[in-house]
Amino acid sequence: MKGGFLLKTLPQYALGIAHGKIILMGEHSVVYGEPAIALPFPAVEIQAKTTNNKGPVTVESFYYSGTLNEVPSLLENIKAVIEKTCHTLDQAVENFNIFIESSIPPQRGMGSSAAVSAAIVRSLYNFFEEPLSYEKLLELTDVGERIAHGNPSGLDAKATTSTDAVYFENGNDFSYMSIDMEAYLIVADSGEIGNTKETVQAVKNLLEKFPEDTEEIIHKLGDLVTYAKDAIDFKDPRTLGTLMSKAHHYLKKLTVSNETLDHLTETAIQNGAIGAKLTGGGRGGCMIALSENKEDAKKIAEALEDAGAIQTWVHSLKMGEL
Ligand code: PMV
Repeated sequence: MKGGFLLKTLPQYALGIAHGKIILMGEHSVVYGEPAIALPFPAVEIQAKTTNNKGPVTVESFYYSGTLNEVPSLLENIKAVIEKTCHTLDQAVENFNIFIESSIPPQRGMGSSAAVSAAIVRSLYNFFEEPLSYEKLLELTDVGERIAHGNPSGLDAKATTSTDAVYFENGNDFSYMSIDMEAYLIVADSGEIGNTKETVQAVKNLLEKFPEDTEEIIHKLGDLVTYAKDAIDFKDPRTLGTLMSKAHHYLKKLTVSNETLDHLTETAIQNGAIGAKLTGGGRGGCMIALSENKEDAKKIAEALEDAGAIQTWVHSLKMGEL
C-alpha cells in the first residue's frame, strides 16, 4: 500500500461523471444472443466527488450518508467498486469522502447503477492522479454491476461511459455506431419502478413453457434490431419508427409491458409519433417515441405528461444537436 511515506499532495477534490443510457432496440432478446442498440443519454448524469477527509471512508448520497463500512445493502455495489478501485490503484481505503449526486432516476432502465460505478471509478482515478484506460473503467464498473444485476450484459457499462451509440452482437461483441439523423427521441418516465430481474425471469419462464413461440418472438425482435441499424445507417426515421412500434408489439407478447407503458406508447402515436416502444426491462420504467421534427417531439412530450408520465426529455438524433 502507498501510505504514510507518500510525499505526493493529493488534490482537495476530484470529480468523475457518467451519463444515463437508453436502449433503442433489443432489450430482452439481447439476453439470448440477439443484437441490441443502446444510446448514451447525456440529459441525465451522475457526478461523484472525492474529497480529502481524514479517517474512514465516508459516502454521501440521496440514499445514505455515513461510513463506507456501514452502507445499506442497496449500496453494496458502490462499496465493492470503491474497495476494488482503491485496491487496483494500490491505495488504502481511507482518508476520503465520496459525494454522489444524480439526476438519473433509479430503476427506470436508464443505467443509474452502471453510471454511479463509472463516476466513482473516474473520480477516484482523478483523485489519485492516475491515468485510467477505457478497459479498466469497464472492468471496474462491472464489479458494481455484478452486485446490482447479478449477470449484466455489459450494455449499461458501455453506454453510460460512451459518447457514441453501442451496437451489441452475439451476446458479447460490441461496436460503436454514430447516429446522425433528422429525428427526435422522446423519452418518458412512467414514474413506476421497473424490475429488470423480474422481467428477465418472466421471459425465461415463457421460454420454458412455450419454447417454439417464444424463440420465434425473440428472433423476430433480433431481426428488427438489424433492420433498425440499417434504417439508422440510411438515415430513415420513418422505417426506424415503424420498427420500434413492431418491437413494442413483440415485447408485449413477451409479457414485459404493462398497462401504463401501453397507454403511453399509444398516446405518443396518437399525438404524431412515428414509432413508440417501452425501453429497458419493462413493467415500469421508461418508454421512448420517435418524431421527425422538434415541434412534434415537444407536442408528444406534453401529451405524455398529460397522460401521466412524470418526466419527459426530447433528445435529438442529429449529431452535435442537443
Ligand atoms: O432495465 P435495463 O435498462 O437495465 O435493461 C435491461 C435490458 C435487458 O435486456 C432486459 C436485460 C439485459 O441484461 O440486457
